[in-house]
Amino acid sequence: MTISPLTADGRGRVLADGNQIPLLGLGVWQVTSGPECVSTVRWALELGYRHIDTAQAYGNEESVGTALLESGVPRDDVFITTKFFPGDPDPVAAVEESLRRLRVDHVDLYLIHWPQGGATWAWPGMERARELGYARSVGVSNFSATQLDEVIGVGTIAPAVNQINFSSLQYRKALLEACKQRSVALEAYSPLGTGRHLGNQTVRLVADRVGRTPAQVLLRWCIQRDVPVIPKSTHRERIEENADIFSFQLSDEDMRELDALDETGGTDRALEHTWW
Ligand code: A2P
Repeated sequence: MTISPLTADGRGRVLADGNQIPLLGLGVWQVTSGPECVSTVRWALELGYRHIDTAQAYGNEESVGTALLESGVPRDDVFITTKFFPGDPDPVAAVEESLRRLRVDHVDLYLIHWPQGGATWAWPGMERARELGYARSVGVSNFSATQLDEVIGVGTIAPAVNQINFSSLQYRKALLEACKQRSVALEAYSPLGTGRHLGNQTVRLVADRVGRTPAQVLLRWCIQRDVPVIPKSTHRERIEENADIFSFQLSDEDMRELDALDETGGTDRALEHTWW
């Protein structure tokens, strides 16, 4: 018998360290700091999102903090992720600054944003941030299977999460399998291909068949793989649409058709190109 990685309500995932991450989150990459980011995050919280994903590199942690305070939603009800910008030297000093900007005393998840300068140098600082109580869980982002093994080799604890570019068109099956084998939860960023996948013919056909939108189909494809997913939108009606993914199912055939869209060759790599 395999133990379900999901929480009892089916809307969250239990991480290897015992903490729980909601399967649906709002991603705020490319959301402009200030009124745009504050209203985007406030709408999401009003519409029931309880998971917000930001990063030091996005420059909008302060706005996320403002939205959280203004929303009146208790801090402990919201799962907050931020990411260490690996151009900085020290994950501990950097998260102290994040906490000040977010106006919280801890984040739920702190990730190395990408493996700049190698996969392992920042990991001791990430573990230290966790020991100090600054982050409940720590993990990585944009790490390949090989890089995951490097971190696991040097660490006291393994990364709880590897957040990567993942969708039916970037299926990266071998990396998903590698994460599973190492009890690392794969989390999907750019689940809509930054909007590009919404016009895909097969995605649209499946959407018509199930009576849902292309965005909902792409997000549901992740959820059905127990993969937490963080779509970005700055439009209230789309934020609402993207949250309505727990009341329908894709059939095995739908899933197979979507799986076949993979353009990565089922790779165990996280990225086709690096940007650093
Ligand atoms: P916008 O922010 O203007 O609403 P990803 O999550 O893969 O990064 O994709 C984000 C992109 O997809 C953004 O350009 C966003 O536009 C767009 N988007 C997000 N949700 C929807 C939706 N439900 N319908 C159409 N476009 C969407």
